[in-house]
Amino acid sequence: MNKISLPILAFGCLMLAAGAALAEGRIGAGKAKSEDCADCHGPEGAGDGDTIPSIAGMPAEQFTQAIADFRSGKRSGSKMMTKMGKRLSVEDVADLAAYYASLKP
Ligand code: HEC
Repeated sequence: MNKISLPILAFGCLMLAAGAALAEGRIGAGKAKSEDCADCHGPEGAGDGDTIPSIAGMPAEQFTQAIADFRSGKRSGSKMMTKMGKRLSVEDVADLAAYYASLKP
């Protein structure tokens, strides 16, 4: 998907989910936002069984904590994850957490 269609897709999901509580992660929106993550973690979040951990089926709370730890520097194992942690909004993290928690580990 190109860089233009992603925001459109995300916006579409946002409209579909209108009425849903914003603080609650939305799986559809999270899926739309997961394309960058899929480059490393794979399309289903399964990781590569080596240096990239699986994040499929990760409980939302644990997921959110992991991102917060990358953002704060408590976890520094991946420069990319530190960057991702800083780039994602609270809403992005909630959506991504909902999406990845919905996948089969
Ligand atoms: C450049 C490759 C790369 C990209 C892109 C990437 N990750 Fe990661 N991710 C990693 C690596 C490597 C680790 C393990 C780092 C560590 O444990 O210190 C990791 C760890 C994680 C963890 C913690 C997993 C655990 O078991 O604690 C989460 C959650 C995560 N990534 C989510 C994401 C999300 C969400 C995105 C997209 C916004 C993303 N990652 C994009 C490489 C990447």
